[in-house]
Amino acid sequence: MPAKVAFARDVDEGLSKEQKTLPSRYFYDGTGSRLFQQIMELPEYYLTRCEQEVLTTNKQAMAALFARGSYFHLIDLGAGDALKTKVLLAELTQQKLAFDYVPVDISGDAMQQLSKSLHNEIPNLKVEAVVGEYFQSLDWLQENKSERKVVLFLGSNIGNFEEPESIRFLTSVRSYLQPGDQLLMGVDLRKDPEMILKAYDDASGITAAFNLNLLQRINKELGGDFNVNQFRHYAMYNPLEGVMRSFLISLSDQDVHIQGSNKTYHFNAWEAIHTENSHKYTIPQIKMLGQLCGFRIEKVFYDSKQLFADVLFAVDQ
Ligand code: TRP
Repeated sequence: MPAKVAFARDVDEGLSKEQKTLPSRYFYDGTGSRLFQQIMELPEYYLTRCEQEVLTTNKQAMAALFARGSYFHLIDLGAGDALKTKVLLAELTQQKLAFDYVPVDISGDAMQQLSKSLHNEIPNLKVEAVVGEYFQSLDWLQENKSERKVVLFLGSNIGNFEEPESIRFLTSVRSYLQPGDQLLMGVDLRKDPEMILKAYDDASGITAAFNLNLLQRINKELGGDFNVNQFRHYAMYNPLEGVMRSFLISLSDQDVHIQGSNKTYHFNAWEAIHTENSHKYTIPQIKMLGQLCGFRIEKVFYDSKQLFADVLFAVDQ
């Protein structure tokens, strides 16, 4: 199915629901990817810096745990600009480990730029970029089943899944792995709710622009007539569930027409479109999640404030 048809179908499906939703994978067009890069530099958005610290401080230990004397594929699910992965790539290359790098991302723009920048920065690195969704990347894992793999799932991307979906996803990743393979997964830990909230509702409004860009993308690619000024970014954290949720709130009673689906959608004043979930975990919860999916924790790496963790999972026999 062409990408635009799938986009139109997903938007129509989400906006036709009783509780309207839009799938978060559509955030990352060119503008969205640029805005997300700005989010990662915000003072409030601690996640990226914390993970950068985890990787920088522990890169040698990680490389030592990846190195098992045989060639491996380093598969980076949701690689983006791979700023964090580059820390590991430099270390692995320096230690002369035998591996190739397989970045996977939904954004074709991002994968093109990444391949180019890696070619300049680490010319000897073998790179095979894959453009697609997480579940499509599993096909790649399937085709190369017999070769050793280290899968990276960084940046707390696991947090964007609802729990049943995260179990399904990790179980299916696990089904393509074998004893000796590993998974390094980034997890945003539970912490001061105020700190979490600010990370998703920054003072300068970049996160708001990022969330609202989804409506602009629908206007651009599907011929929508959203008046973006009539929607507002709203984020809330529920400390009982450990979930940050992001919404777009309709500021008035309004109709929006989308040519791509040839339909008009009605929004009541203060009606919400749900756009993203970001789950925050404790290590015992992550241990359980891993166990449910056939993974065993090999080591947990933290930043100095223990706000974030990168968990190295081994595959059970
Ligand atoms: N999905 C990422 C996260 O949960 C990116 C993100 C940051 C995001 N801020 C957002 C997604 C606001 C939607 C709305 O951290």
